[in-house]
Amino acid sequence: MEIIVANESHFKYAQIISDTITDSAKVRGTGIAMRTPEYIIKRLQNGNAVIALDGDTFAGFCYIEVWGNKDFVANSGLIVHPDYRNQGLAKKIKKAVFDLSRKKFPDAKIFGITTGLAVMKMNYELGYKPVTFSELTDDPEFWKGCQTCKNFDILTRTDRKMCLCTGMLHDPKAQKQEPEKVNKKAFKRLKSIKENLFLKKKDK
Ligand SMILES: CC(C)(COP(=O)(O)OP(=O)(O)OC[C@H]1O[C@@H](n2cnc3c(N)ncnc32)[C@H](O)[C@@H]1OP(=O)(O)O)[C@@H](O)C(=O)NCCC(=O)NCCS
Repeated sequence: MEIIVANESHFKYAQIISDTITDSAKVRGTGIAMRTPEYIIKRLQNGNAVIALDGDTFAGFCYIEVWGNKDFVANSGLIVHPDYRNQGLAKKIKKAVFDLSRKKFPDAKIFGITTGLAVMKMNYELGYKPVTFSELTDDPEFWKGCQTCKNFDILTRTDRKMCLCTGMLHDPKAQKQEPEKVNKKAFKRLKSIKENLFLKKKDK
């Protein structure tokens, strides 16, 4: 398995990346924004994405986006093809995209929003902390990216203050501490409280 910084030679994988995200969103039913092949191509060509390939076969992907005058970068769109899940690949991709973010944007705060326990765990291990949305970028373009998520109405209803996703932030200026472990029980409880508050009964 090769995990590399993507470039123009990887444009041919844009369709399968987009399809894998769409299919996973359907299966999971919540908390994943769709990405078109055109959108993926832009991320592949600017040196800010990481792709995992098993020979010529697509296995996984994640990209960096820069917000608010380079004060913030987000590691977004993490996807592992179902054939390659549960083998530690997402962890390796996340680490690769995190290291690339630190190298290219050493002063930026790195953040992400997620409904997924797997991502929450990986973020904790990289030194992210859970934060309220007010600690994240206020760049409207970032939040526009949530428009294709099925929970977007919640984000709008709450004036962008909260949603089913949890915000997580890595501040390079914060003091280095031992990485924390996610409290799975607390995370699941919080998610269920948010779902009860925000989702209509038929959506749950
Ligand atoms: C989430 C996803 C990226 C995980 O990929 P993966 O390669 O199977 O993950 P890994 O094998 O590297 O596992 C990383 C950690 O997450 C845990 N994990 C993986 N899938 C999980 C799940 N569905 N629920 C809870 N924990 C999970 C693993 O046990 C591992 O934790 P550990 O280090 O404590 O053992 C993959 O399932 C996926 O692409 N899902 C659809 C897209 C998605 O949800 N993206 C995130 C959007 S916020």
